[in-house]
Amino acid sequence: MKAVILVGGLGTRLRPLSINTPKSMMPVVNIPFIEYVIRRLSRHNIKHVILAISHLAQPIKNYIGDGSRFGVSITYTIEETALGTAGAVKNTAQYLDDEAFVVLNGDIFTDLDISAMIALHNRRKAKITIALTPVEDPTIYGLIETDDKGRITRFLEKPSWEQVTTNMINAGTYIMEADVLNSIPAQTMFSFEKGVFPPLLQKGEPIYAFPSSCYWMDIGTPEKYHQLNRDLLNAKSNQFNFIKNTHVSIGEDSNIHTAAEITGPAVIGNNCTIGERAKLNGAVVIGSGSTIGDSAIVEDSVIWHNVKIEQGAIVKRSIIADNCRIGAESNIIDAVISDNITVTAGYNIKPGSKIWPDTPVG
Ligand code: GDD
Ligand code: MG
Repeated sequence: MKAVILVGGLGTRLRPLSINTPKSMMPVVNIPFIEYVIRRLSRHNIKHVILAISHLAQPIKNYIGDGSRFGVSITYTIEETALGTAGAVKNTAQYLDDEAFVVLNGDIFTDLDISAMIALHNRRKAKITIALTPVEDPTIYGLIETDDKGRITRFLEKPSWEQVTTNMINAGTYIMEADVLNSIPAQTMFSFEKGVFPPLLQKGEPIYAFPSSCYWMDIGTPEKYHQLNRDLLNAKSNQFNFIKNTHVSIGEDSNIHTAAEITGPAVIGNNCTIGERAKLNGAVVIGSGSTIGDSAIVEDSVIWHNVKIEQGAIVKRSIIADNCRIGAESNIIDAVISDNITVTAGYNIKPGSKIWPDTPVG
């Protein structure tokens, strides 16, 4: 079976982190997000993966290449203008076979058992099977109602609170029969959620739900992206369980001063330097090539690659993207800082700030 991963969204709500880094390349515990998605498919024996991209394609292609490193073969399709979720899959039709295939929203981290989902799809002889997950706030997702046999009876995309009848939503993984492609116009902006699923339901096609309460996170916002990193460090998903052996993982060629204090969970990448009396209070991720200066404090934060946090700086509950320099004795609390930013020594960033690229700070 083949899979299409939708990686074309603009990641608008993830800005400023997504301005220069596509959502799928954002490091999650130091590994690009898309790598987890591809490896999971590979584990479920899905070895041919099509990446449907619409912008910022190059960084993804550079990293993933032909996919052989991850045990899969990758094909890329690039939309000139974004075609929407269904339009993007239609655009991959020449690479699909005359059999059922998997579609994944490319911004979901989940432990969903795809093999069990495929088995259910076949047993039910479904046209489409859609994974469902329970959430606290269905209004930002696609609400899905089912009957007592698990057959889907209603789709309601981004309902208002008055319209909410269930906490179960579209979890962004589909198994679909090949002829579903016939209901999508070519080279046209078209969405599954509004343009394909409701009309097929209307026609009486068998569309089934695959509910699951396994780990599930849509990395749509910086807060959720941060929570995903925390959750992995705390072993909430079965895809990152270093914590079972140790609370602190240190990459190759990293230099940790003997008087540094690290209380995990913490993952430190390769070629990092952690200075004298520096404190890392978990959950903390330090990207490769980063330096934490003497007496600096980093707590509950995600630091990307090649970041320099100078002596005595304090970073708490924040995300700092690639190549930033955080000046000595500055305070970064509850902030999201995009790549290549320099914060002047001694400067206190206003809590809650989101710093856009090319913004002078201090
Ligand atoms: N190639 C391509 N082209 N991909 C696209 C396009 C496009 O034009 N538009 C969106 N995508 C990708 C996004 O990158 C993302 O991976 C996925 O399709 C879903 O798009 P989002 O924009 O993230 O949608 P959403 O989160 O508001 O809602 C969707 O996901 C929810 C679950 O997280 C819907 O499917 C909801 O029903 C669902 O509950
Ligand atoms: Mg999304």
